[in-house]
Amino acid sequence: MLPSDGMPTALIPVFIPAEALKHRIAELAKEIRGDVPNDDLHFVCVLKGGVLFLADLIREMEGTVTMDFMALSSYGSGTTSSGEVRLVKDLDYGLEGRNVIIVEDIVDTGLTLHYLQEILRARNPRSLRTACLLSKPSRRKIDVSVDYIGFTIEDRFVVGYGLDYSEQYRNLPYIGALQ
Ligand code: IMP
Repeated sequence: MLPSDGMPTALIPVFIPAEALKHRIAELAKEIRGDVPNDDLHFVCVLKGGVLFLADLIREMEGTVTMDFMALSSYGSGTTSSGEVRLVKDLDYGLEGRNVIIVEDIVDTGLTLHYLQEILRARNPRSLRTACLLSKPSRRKIDVSVDYIGFTIEDRFVVGYGLDYSEQYRNLPYIGALQ
């Protein structure tokens, strides 16, 4: 059972503590930079869930970094995916010739990411890689490649650190589990 609106954030059990997020994100930043050592990196962040992850990831990066934002809708206000993905806000800049890193909060069924990778690949980036803070492999409906994964988790509904339930709880500094 998920809590109704307005559950006090202090009551949400910690699933991944803030210190573990910080440590892992620093490792991911090193890994990403290590794969593209001498070139610019262009981060494409998926709103809104990826924002906190992006903010911490780029602060751990060395070298030239640019960013852009995109919004997709795949979930309604509940916790089950409709499977339908829609582009709600497009990027401000083109991707031609850039080393693009997609930054997503979580890959669940994989439908959103698959859609996103298809449309971005068609814009001719020099390279296209994907970083997801969380992955729930047991929920996959489509085979999608994710180059950098922060944490692989079981099938739990998680919130915090950018992730929401009905637009709430994005501000938690840790990942909490609602079920
Ligand atoms: P997918 O298309 O099923 O992979 O869903 C991806 C999107 O669903 C993510 O970007 C999230 O916005 C949302 N989502 C999936 N699982 C969770 C969760 O456990 N908590 C919050 N949002 C989730």
